[in-house]
Amino acid sequence: MPNKKLIAANWKMNKGLVQSQQFADELKKYFEKYKLTDTEVVLCPPFTSLDAVNKKIAGTPIKLGAQNMYFETIGAYTGEISAGMLKSCGCEYVILGHSERRQYFNETNAIINKKVLKALDEGLKPIVCVGENLQEHEDKLTESVIDEQITVCLSHVSEEGIANVTIAYEPVWAIGTGKNATPHQAESVHNFLRKKLKKMYNDDVSKNTKIIYGGSVTPENAKELFTPQTVNGGLIGGASLEAEKFIKIINASNSK
Ligand code: PGA
Repeated sequence: MPNKKLIAANWKMNKGLVQSQQFADELKKYFEKYKLTDTEVVLCPPFTSLDAVNKKIAGTPIKLGAQNMYFETIGAYTGEISAGMLKSCGCEYVILGHSERRQYFNETNAIINKKVLKALDEGLKPIVCVGENLQEHEDKLTESVIDEQITVCLSHVSEEGIANVTIAYEPVWAIGTGKNATPHQAESVHNFLRKKLKKMYNDDVSKNTKIIYGGSVTPENAKELFTPQTVNGGLIGGASLEAEKFIKIINASNSK
């Protein structure tokens, strides 16, 4: 299993500049007090706060990530942000294929694949989101949906590339609903993902790829959700908006 867990804050379309900076200051204080050696913490603010948050977290182990990017390098793509731009703001990570991107912005597995390949090419670490919606969950289609998502999203990703990919299993029915998957459900999908990676790559990739869980993680359920060996951390939405709650989740991961 990967030696470090990863806890990422996905702020979505929340927080302006001042709020983002305040949050970064609070988290920084926490890091000054405690040395976290076995959890990687990533903040994913909106694009407009990336630079400011980057400046705040300079010199700390906190990492910066973006919530999306475009797959082209440069040019006439009004409103889009390139991998190079993200890197120039200090990003190391980028969330790709979040279910909200799929649902509201028509992102397909094929588009996500182009983004994953571009991110890797430019030296960014993608956090690739997969997960079934409620209907698919009820119809017991979880494994086939995820199989397809992984096959296409990771198509042409080399063994070298996959070493820089984190997979986030986020059941859509659990996102922002207050209804998290049980640790057992998360574990079983994570195990399925590892089997899939073994088929696509090999045993080492299957064991070493970081697979995190997302969907209504809270300070109350985090410890339990991070208990299965195969769950290597979390992608946190709502509960990452308050520093105090987010810190409790980091603690839950770290004390596992
Ligand atoms: P949530 O969101 O924690 O608010 O459910 C998770 C996510 O969308 O990444």
